[in-house]
Amino acid sequence: MESFLVKGFGGRKKLKGVLPVMGAKNAVLKAQAAGILFKDEIIIENAPFIEDVLKMNEILSGLGVMVEDMGERTFVFKIPKSVGGDLSGELAKTLRASIVLTGPVLARNGYVSFPHPGGCVIGKRPIDIFLDGFKKMGAKLKTKKNSYVLECEYLKGTEIFFKAQSMTATETFMMAGVLAKGITILKNCACEPEISSLAGFLNSCGADIKGAGTHTIIVKGTGLLKKGIYRTMPDRLEAGSFLIIGALCGKDLKITGCEPAHLEAVTDLLIRAGVKIKIGDGFISISAPASLMAVDLKTHEYPGFPTDLQAPLAVLLTQSTGKSLVFETVFEGRLDYINDLKRMGADAVICDQHRAIINGPIKLTGRVMDSPDLRAGLAFLTAGLVADGESVINNAYNIDRGYEKIEERLAAVGAEIKRI
Ligand code: EPU
Repeated sequence: MESFLVKGFGGRKKLKGVLPVMGAKNAVLKAQAAGILFKDEIIIENAPFIEDVLKMNEILSGLGVMVEDMGERTFVFKIPKSVGGDLSGELAKTLRASIVLTGPVLARNGYVSFPHPGGCVIGKRPIDIFLDGFKKMGAKLKTKKNSYVLECEYLKGTEIFFKAQSMTATETFMMAGVLAKGITILKNCACEPEISSLAGFLNSCGADIKGAGTHTIIVKGTGLLKKGIYRTMPDRLEAGSFLIIGALCGKDLKITGCEPAHLEAVTDLLIRAGVKIKIGDGFISISAPASLMAVDLKTHEYPGFPTDLQAPLAVLLTQSTGKSLVFETVFEGRLDYINDLKRMGADAVICDQHRAIINGPIKLTGRVMDSPDLRAGLAFLTAGLVADGESVINNAYNIDRGYEKIEERLAAVGAEIKRI
């Protein structure tokens, strides 16, 4: 098992230089799945080299897709005439994004079987929106011991109102609509930029999707798509993670290859906490201020503050003067990591499943911690950088799922971090 060994700066500001942002995990995974909507082939460029992307490639291989790694972050996907309908149990169970394959696979084959998808343990993570939506489109559901089976002659376009603004559900039904018969109208959609990016790609290949990026999306069934090239958009969550690290330990850190327009909720909050940032075309420069101010944080669907940056931001709040409220509104299991921050010395109280209060500033002391999930793992790494002494963050694997070679990239701007 690999871990990260981090030598803390003990509050000093030392990160300097250029920190480039990779392609977005939560965009590329959906583009990979979209391959199933195509007749012969798609090419994906600027793919981050992370565990989840490789897992999705394996699941696609299991469906008969030939995946070729062309090097330089480019993959070619050759789609067979007949695509398999069973999503590999073990792999799909460990990857939440595998659920988005159900849309294209069911729409193409009239059949899909899949296990309850896994991924980060950050709450109940139900799939009722998916099952209800497919039933509305005419599919019949059978629940087996370890899997769900959906079948239909064909999916029919219909109107679906999502009870929650779910990113993966919006993407799944947008893709299903491309191969469905008739018109699919999706209401109360999520608005994340990864959704617009996916729609833009599909439209450039012959799909007819209107409204992506708004709460109502209309998809006209067009049948299998032509060849396509998808260039993965910058990862706003990675950029946001780097901004938080910069706000704590930066001494003129330039985060490049990002899209500042996707990060307004984060930059706005950091400015309110007293951080000085400079926003340019595709970059954000940031330095840690002498002192930070407490700010209340409420997560919200895009364009609000992303739930994925709640844990890293909480580390910043331990270093901010005053009392901050952390209010997690999207998931119900995303505050447990605070107990580890408390063991490092943080003055925090978890009020209930959704709220915590953090009092700062306080010195953190390095510790050995187990990364429970991707974003809390990144939060521990951030806390390790700020703390006095050494920290070991176990389960490096969880962080590798979303951040490519994070230790090499942070070391390049001055962090004392290595993989052990
Ligand atoms: N929900 C339901 N029923 C469903 C699906 C979702 O009630 O069938 C609820 C969830 O319980 C939650 C809310 O809807 O309260 C929103 O969850 P959503 O479905 O949007 O989450 P997701 O699509 O499973 C994606 C990202 C997550 C990110 C969330 C929120 C991917 C692969 N995952 O998850 O990313 O936290 O949107 O923005 O795109 C990560 O990258 O670390 C990560 C967890």
